This record gives sequence, structure tokens and C-alpha cells, in this order.
Amino acid sequence: MLAGQRLLGESDAVCRYDWQRSRNPRDRRTTESGERIMLQGKRPPILSATERDGVRAAGRFNGQLLDFVRPHIQPGTTTSELDKLVYTYTMDHGHTPACLGYMGFPKSCCTSVNEVVCHGIPGDYRLRDGDIVNLDLTTNVDGWLGDQSETFLIGRVSDEARRLTQCAFDCLYLAIGAIRPGGRVADIGRVIVEHAHEQGFSVVREYVGHGIGRQFHQEPTVPHYPSRQAFRDFLYPGVCFTIEPMINAGSRETMLDSHDGWTVRTRDGKPSAQFEHTILMTESGPEILTPTQLGPAPGHRF
Ligand code: MF3
Ligand code: CO
Ligand code: CO
Repeated sequence: MLAGQRLLGESDAVCRYDWQRSRNPRDRRTTESGERIMLQGKRPPILSATERDGVRAAGRFNGQLLDFVRPHIQPGTTTSELDKLVYTYTMDHGHTPACLGYMGFPKSCCTSVNEVVCHGIPGDYRLRDGDIVNLDLTTNVDGWLGDQSETFLIGRVSDEARRLTQCAFDCLYLAIGAIRPGGRVADIGRVIVEHAHEQGFSVVREYVGHGIGRQFHQEPTVPHYPSRQAFRDFLYPGVCFTIEPMINAGSRETMLDSHDGWTVRTRDGKPSAQFEHTILMTESGPEILTPTQLGPAPGHRF
């Protein structure tokens, strides 16, 4: 999601968390001025037990879809062939790809190769030895959304690309390990920036993780660096969101393709890697809603 993009948030009526009785003093403050409301940010929906089962089912299917496409991510395959597999498998199971037609996006998934940071449009490009490609899948299952991505190494890749992919993967799991019920969204960005910088890499700021549920992008905004707003936003049980760090080998600056209006590239042309999970914060800690059977598990070495 584009940082700072106006969120088409669900109305506060949808939010059943009792903010008046919250133990967080910031939530108890009366909101006399518009400014104060701005400072507090919008509140994320807090999912009920049944709603949680909705996002769980969506996440589970999304993970199965990724495992279905996984063996096809090989040298010689075009990104539009991958897109077709995503579309067909999803529709055959009675679901819909959430990307297709989302704000005019023309395909069913995003395929981001090498210097493409995110939102790459599947097309005629043929994957080849030495590429890294991120496949980002989002499915609508009975009105609930699951969203995840992995970066794949195609054949033998440079040491830099491999270390970069490792770093993005480790950043995702470090962030999941750093959050707790009622904790701050800023805990995510704090550990990601720390680890990426330690590895000599940079963290993209213009694109962020996001609340997810019945809508693709909603509150909270989940930056992969510790923003001011992220210190004010809390991950209460029932909040559902993504973590999706984009890590650059060179500088963190990005550039939007002015012709297609979607493809985001690194400004310096150096590679970028990303991993994403949909997470539900529960009373006992974060639950990964988009697990895979065949993908890399925490601790994996690329
Ligand atoms: N899946 C991306 C995300 O993680 C969003 C893709 S939007 C699209 O937020 F329109 F490009 F598909
Ligand atoms: Co996402
Ligand atoms: Co995604």
C-alpha cells in the first residue's frame, strides 16, 4: 500500500472495541478538536470470533494458492503464465483474485523482478537464471481477504541478491517476533530497520503494510520503519494486518513507472526483495494467517 494514501476506512460503527473503557490513556482522551482526531488516527476494526474465522479461511486458501504456483516459478516461465495459474486456481475454487481490477490493476497478482520493488504487472517477461522475483498474492474468500508474498531465487543468483532475500525474510520473522497483544505498531519498523541496516541494506518507506479484512487496505498503516503514527497505533487482539518489508540492496529511494502507473522500481536500479504475511493479533500473540506447507520456514537459509 502507498504510504499516506487516504484509507477508505470502515466506519467507526464497524469497530466494536470499547475505546471508552480502554486502559490506554490516549484512547480515553475526549476528541474536542479535529486535530486531536488526526493525531489519534483512525481505529482498525476489531474482529469478532466469527470474523476471525473469515480471515483465517482466506489466509489459508491464499497459502495453498502460493504452494500451487511455487513449482512453476522456474527459469523460462513468463510472469503472465504465473498470473494465469493464479487466476485459474483461484476461480476453480470459487474465489476471486483481489488484485484483478483493484484500482484498475490489470492482472490477478503482482510479479516484481530484480529492481522492481512491488506492484510489478505480469507480462511477457521470461524468468531467467540469476533473477529474483517476488510473487504477491491476494485472494477474496467469501468477502474476506488474505495477502502474502515471497521472493524466489531463479537458478543461481548473485551473492548480493541471495543475502538481500535472506534479509527481507528475516526482517518479516523478526517483526512477527517483536509484536505482542496491545503492543505498538512501531515495534515492527524498529526491528526491521535495525536488522536491515546491520546487513548494509535499506528499507523502503513509500510502501507499507496495512490492515486487512473485508477491505484490501484499511487501518492500521504498518510502516516498516518506526514512524510517529506507528508509536500511537496499537495492535489489540482482533486487529488483522500485513507485515511486508521491502528491502533494497542500495538506496531506499523508489520510482513509480509513469507509463503503467503501477510498477515501482528502485531509483538506483539495484535489486529489492520482499516477504509478506497476513497476521491476526490474538489474546495470546500474533497468528500467521497465511502459512504454506512448502515455503521457507523461520530459520530457513537461502
Ligand atoms: N498485494 C499488495 C500488497 O501487499 C497490493 C497489490 S495492489 C495491486 O498490499 F493492485 F497491485 F494488486
Ligand atoms: Co499487503
Ligand atoms: Co501483498
